[in-house]
Amino acid sequence: MKIAVMPGDGVGKEVVPEGLKVLKVVSEKFGFSYTTDHYPFGGEYYLEKKETLPNSALKELAAHDAILFGAVGVDPRGSTQIPQGILEAEILLKMRFELDQYINLRPTKLLPGVPTPLKNVGPADIDMVIVRENTEGLYCQNGGFLYKGTQHEVANQIEVTTRRGVERAIRYAFDYAKQFNRKKVTLVAKTNVLRFAHNLWQRAFEEVKTDYPGIETDYHHVDACTMYMVTKPKIYDVIVTTNMFGDIITDLGAAIQGGMGMAASGNLNPTRQAASMFEPVHGSAPDIAGKNLANPIATFLSVGMMLDFLNQPKAARAIYQACADVVADPKNHTRDLGGTCTTTQVGETVCAKLA
Ligand code: NAD
Ligand code: IPM
Ligand code: MN
Repeated sequence: MKIAVMPGDGVGKEVVPEGLKVLKVVSEKFGFSYTTDHYPFGGEYYLEKKETLPNSALKELAAHDAILFGAVGVDPRGSTQIPQGILEAEILLKMRFELDQYINLRPTKLLPGVPTPLKNVGPADIDMVIVRENTEGLYCQNGGFLYKGTQHEVANQIEVTTRRGVERAIRYAFDYAKQFNRKKVTLVAKTNVLRFAHNLWQRAFEEVKTDYPGIETDYHHVDACTMYMVTKPKIYDVIVTTNMFGDIITDLGAAIQGGMGMAASGNLNPTRQAASMFEPVHGSAPDIAGKNLANPIATFLSVGMMLDFLNQPKAARAIYQACADVVADPKNHTRDLGGTCTTTQVGETVCAKLA
């Protein structure tokens, strides 16, 4: 396996190296080999070279089997030295779009022993998979300003919705449900207001579902969905949704599964014509970066998803089980979960469990 590694910024630089240790341990245990190529792109690289992700590197990345990514970005309040959103758009979104990683798969599962902010809710109640459309919607960077900086300023940001893009996401959600014996697929959108774009989603959903007669279906408006995720998360099994709504509800999902440090994701190109990318859902977490405080479990679970995608299901399962076993004991929790462990300590504990 050829794996590209891009830690990026902030806590990405702390959790990805731990993820690589976990990868090494499982490779030895399960007897597969791999090579890694490291890519330095991110905020610091940009400040030094005034370059985000050059096309030559993108081409190299595409030819790997997978990319292990950390996070890019600066303080959410902004930076005076780095133009707003440039790292996100020109590194992360560029990979998702150019490598046609059209599915962002984000499992949201509460593991035993992990605290959730929800009352009277346990692991049996939170076990959903969110399928986020990943190459369209409001993320296309299709827009612009008119009369910028004047009282007449106009800003447009267009939500791009194509039949092909929507249908392949919906089909993926149903195929996933079928393969993993999940009972229900819920479409989350906003058909009552976005009467064109989300009407297309709804019609595609109605059509595609007829190909999967054994699977129950439902529809929720996104506003109601945010409420149900908090009040009765158990109703969700597989959710399929737009790029923007998927971004928002997966942070909410992360919160109910124990926080950003627990949420893993895969940016998948199911055709395998270019590399897929695996990353924790969280960002660079500037508030805790550089302090050995970040929870690396989300990254480990992402490494597990990567190995599943690369046809190493036993190694993938072992990582998942080791993470579940480790977080089951509060002694192993990082600060976000209420514990006192450091990033590297959790890494060591998971590696020891695996070995
Ligand atoms: P964030 O996810 O970085 O942080 C949100 C909160 O979660 C913070 O309080 C942070 O401390 C906490 N957190 C995040 N990861 C954690 C971990 N592993 N362990 C413990 N706590 C953790 O979101 P933000 O603050 O809105 O964004 C910071 C920067 O990251 C922004 O520039 C944003 O654009 C970028 N970002 C990048 C990605 C990515 O590259 N995939 C994802 C999200 C945000
Ligand atoms: C995520 C992040 C990204 C997104 C940003 C950093 C572009 O929030 O992966 O969830 O909005 O998709
Ligand atoms: Mn997000």
